[in-house]
Amino acid sequence: MKMRIGSILFVGMMIGAAIAFAAEQPTVVTMQNKQGEIIFHHEEHQAAVNACNDCHHTGLDTGACRDCHGVDREVPRLKHAFHRQCRNCHIKDGGPTGCDTCHDITKKAGAKK
Ligand code: HEC
Ligand code: HEC
Ligand code: HEC
Ligand code: HEC
Repeated sequence: MKMRIGSILFVGMMIGAAIAFAAEQPTVVTMQNKQGEIIFHHEEHQAAVNACNDCHHTGLDTGACRDCHGVDREVPRLKHAFHRQCRNCHIKDGGPTGCDTCHDITKKAGAKK
């Protein structure tokens, strides 16, 4: 478990730069934001989907969600895109939908987006 925590931090730091490792998927992705930190169990979510591209809808070689969403005005905002993808599937497939089931409201990040 100690090793896991190390790699979680590592993955967190590598988001954005992690495209270099595009063949491999992270175990967990930690997202800091104003509503409260999210621990996204990336690997465990595989059971709920058919393919990587179900979420990485532009393909794995195009970068992270946040490389497009929230950057280019033509592209829907990051929050909107994540809520669409995460929450809509939870509603459809029986995942958790309460704000605090994804957001740890005790860990709110400072200024962002
Ligand atoms: C349930 C949705 C979902 C599925 C399925 C999924 N991913 Fe991801 N993946 C994400 C999210 C969300 C992130 C975090 C991106 C961010 O923070 O911008 C991410 C991040 C990554 C990253 C880190 C770099 C990056 O793009 O942020 C890699 C590499 C990655 N995924 C590979 C894969 C691979 C390989 C598969 C299939 C085996 C896969 N993913 C399936 C949602 C998913
Ligand atoms: C290469 C750029 C790019 C990347 C990377 C990308 N997107 Fe998108 N995304 C777009 C564009 C452009 C649109 C709007 C056009 C469309 O629907 O395809 C979009 C639309 C969406 C929508 C539909 C929004 C709506 O209002 O219907 C969702 C949901 C979404 N993206 C989620 C994600 C998630 C989650 C990731 C990361 C796993 C991701 N996107 C990665 C460019 C990108
Ligand atoms: C393709 C469908 C799908 C997508 C997309 C999806 N989820 Fe889930 N998620 C599920 C299902 C189904 C469960 C319930 C799994 C269970 O209870 O074993 C779940 C459970 C969870 C849980 C509670 C269990 C845990 O892993 O801690 C969290 C938190 C979560 N998802 C966050 C997210 C976030 C954040 C995103 C978007 C980045 C996301 N999910 C995208 C289907 C999805
Ligand atoms: C299924 C998971 C999930 C649920 C449920 C959820 N969110 Fe989110 N939310 C996310 C993700 C993923 C992000 C993007 C986080 C990031 O950018 O680091 C996000 C981002 C946000 C942001 C933007 C924060 C910022 O710093 O820009 C706000 C505000 C927010 N959510 C509010 C809510 C509220 C209010 C609810 C309940 C009505 C809710 N969320 C429920 C997953 C979820």
